[in-house]
Amino acid sequence: MARRILAAGNWKMNKTPSETTALIEEMKKTCASDTVDVLFCVPAIDIPAAVAAAKDSNIQIGAENMYFEESGAYTGEVAPAMLVDAGVSHVIIGHSERRQYFAETDEMVNKKVLKAIEHKLVPVICCGETLEQREQGVTLDWIRVQIKIALQGVAAEDAKGVVIAYEPIWAIGTGKTATSDQAEEVCKGIRDLLRELYDDETAETTRILYGGSVKPGNAAELFGKEDIDGGLVGGASLTPDFGGIVNYEK
Ligand code: 13P
Repeated sequence: MARRILAAGNWKMNKTPSETTALIEEMKKTCASDTVDVLFCVPAIDIPAAVAAAKDSNIQIGAENMYFEESGAYTGEVAPAMLVDAGVSHVIIGHSERRQYFAETDEMVNKKVLKAIEHKLVPVICCGETLEQREQGVTLDWIRVQIKIALQGVAAEDAKGVVIAYEPIWAIGTGKTATSDQAEEVCKGIRDLLRELYDDETAETTRILYGGSVKPGNAAELFGKEDIDGGLVGGASLTPDFGGIVNYEK
């Protein structure tokens, strides 16, 4: 069974609620597709506007983060049930910016992944190496540790539904894309790990995305690789030109 390509945007800390409404309206025109899944992960405050604007379209709305407790005294955090109630389908977990600026650890990532699954939210689990790690030749070792910890306690049946995003830190927002061969090598390594941890079926079903300076001009080459099932896109998801990534085959 062929995996469907997922074109996912990560807006990061950009766009107000009113800008969100206007941008999703534009995206509905440029991102129509019968063959590619389209997702925008937006700031928590923009979620209601995004969900309302995306209604009756092919666009799904996700969150960029959530906390791993149900509710309580966690000032400033957003609970999984809040996301579900707001109409969110996916949630990014463990983005390198959260690890770097907000001290998220692999253990927190694992707790969030388990909580998202419990609430039937699709976790988009991020992993990626620094330039130093790549130069030291430990990329795949590092990614394997990140993913192994993120998936602790996740059953095969649930692992099939998660999305994994490989985002080399040195390629994020730098304009430096990993070559399609570099991206494929790591995405294949992640699929091999899923085969080791689970089974062939899980490895063949789970979607693995590449992220890091994906744009309309390089999407076709990246998404054409055997083990790359789409992209997690930052900068290029902030304008209607994102449609060029969704419709990369045209
Ligand atoms: P850019 O596409 O801006 O490099 O960002 C990638 C990213 O971090 C997506 O999560």
